[in-house]
Amino acid sequence: MTLAGMMACNDDKFSDIIPMPSPIEDNNGGEGEGGDVAASSRDEQYRPQVHFTPAANWINDPNGMVFADGVWHLYYQYNPMGNDWGNMSWGHATSTDLFHWQEQPVAMTPNQYGDIFSGSAIQDKDNVAGFGAGAILAFYTASGEHQQQCLAYSTDGGLTYTQFEGNPIIPNTDMPDFRDPKVFYHQESGKYIMALAKGFDFSIDFWGSDNLKTWKKLSEFRIDNNRCNIGQWECPDLIKLPYKDGEKYVLIVSTNPGGPVGGSGTMYFVGDFDGTKFTAQPLDYPLWLDGGADNYAGVTWSNAYEGRSIYIGWMNNWNYAGAVPCNPWRSAMTLPRELQLTELNGAPVVTSKVVDEIESIAGELTAATDGVCAGGDAYEMIVKLDPSENQTFTIGNEMGECVTVNVNPAAGKVILGRNSASGNVGFHGLFSIPSMSALYDTKADELELHIYTDDSSVEILSSDGLVAITSLVFPTVPYDRISGVEDVTFYPLKSVW
Ligand code: FRU
Repeated sequence: MTLAGMMACNDDKFSDIIPMPSPIEDNNGGEGEGGDVAASSRDEQYRPQVHFTPAANWINDPNGMVFADGVWHLYYQYNPMGNDWGNMSWGHATSTDLFHWQEQPVAMTPNQYGDIFSGSAIQDKDNVAGFGAGAILAFYTASGEHQQQCLAYSTDGGLTYTQFEGNPIIPNTDMPDFRDPKVFYHQESGKYIMALAKGFDFSIDFWGSDNLKTWKKLSEFRIDNNRCNIGQWECPDLIKLPYKDGEKYVLIVSTNPGGPVGGSGTMYFVGDFDGTKFTAQPLDYPLWLDGGADNYAGVTWSNAYEGRSIYIGWMNNWNYAGAVPCNPWRSAMTLPRELQLTELNGAPVVTSKVVDEIESIAGELTAATDGVCAGGDAYEMIVKLDPSENQTFTIGNEMGECVTVNVNPAAGKVILGRNSASGNVGFHGLFSIPSMSALYDTKADELELHIYTDDSSVEILSSDGLVAITSLVFPTVPYDRISGVEDVTFYPLKSVW
């Protein structure tokens, strides 16, 4: 990133974790556009075995997620030169099952307009933009002296990109934070819509286009609620989900700081979109997509088949992202999750479940003996609990390192505590968090929790999708057991590398 770009960003979080570039000595990362892909055994301490990580170097937000011609594309904020934030580029990985990822050469590196910040991609099947039927179009923020929206296109299945000669497609010289374009097609109006976040203005712009190249501002969404307007708004996504006999729109907005447990968090608003304007229905905002500390900047895949809304988030938090003890890579994505809408206590609530494709890495379902699953790296642990009973259990390893989970019917919450007992927390003062929580259905017959453990994370999701708590952990050896609950079954999860 250029110095001017850093200033334009107006973001303390970025300046905290610079200086950059700071190439790591043994950097074997991609070498820029068309560069080689790094090699790694991917068996270092804390290296996730079932979550996406790059072989080497820093990543943050997922970008440009599009399903095209049978391939799931995952681009991401990437520093090709080291494992600190900087030199923002789009790294690239592909998969046919959302779990086994093949790292591809870096897709875009900084250009004359600045660094390549976050954005989205669509497949232009009908050649609306004129770059060829089936071209993949990437919309991103170029962050240089100003943050402006740019377009690039790929005619080789998403591997390499050509910059559109009419860039920037949405110029900007006066707004300090104006970024993260998410584009989708709105069937009813026959228009393409772009959602854009305006940082500390606490608002989302909607722009519209017929040809994907010329864009016109349609409306602006903001909410008069101080609890939503603490951190800057970033990485929006507007998705349509079935609800009861009809459907509703959900606007996803990442905010930092001011998340559910401080630092980064992802809120959502439920309402209607008429092709021009999003109107949120009155609910008790902020509603959080995930009550944990470590699920940020997530959005959904474009063109997911069968109309699924498949989401992936950056499994980290700007409070300590630059310090997490991972080398030569830094950061992972969450497990991919399917989002749906359900009703709880008369109000719509977004639910999250790990996508069914996880079956591709699941071993045999087994009953745990005394809560012990058995010395592997990654598991899906399934516990069944009485939702009306206050109970506490731990998820940990043979060394006694663990996180604590309390199911608390009086509070109506599942609460996860992460402190020095969980493993290494000493790398940053903000990493210990006594209570991350998510609401659950206290009136259900049963509470079934699906707990996904990997070398450096715990994700707790409930079978009805209401609970989502994502937490990084850095134990000496991976968590492979639960103490304090009787009914535990598990699937060992096979490494995807
Ligand atoms: C969110 C974010 C985006 C920006 C990107 C820069 O984490 O701040 O708003 O585009 O990261 O890396």
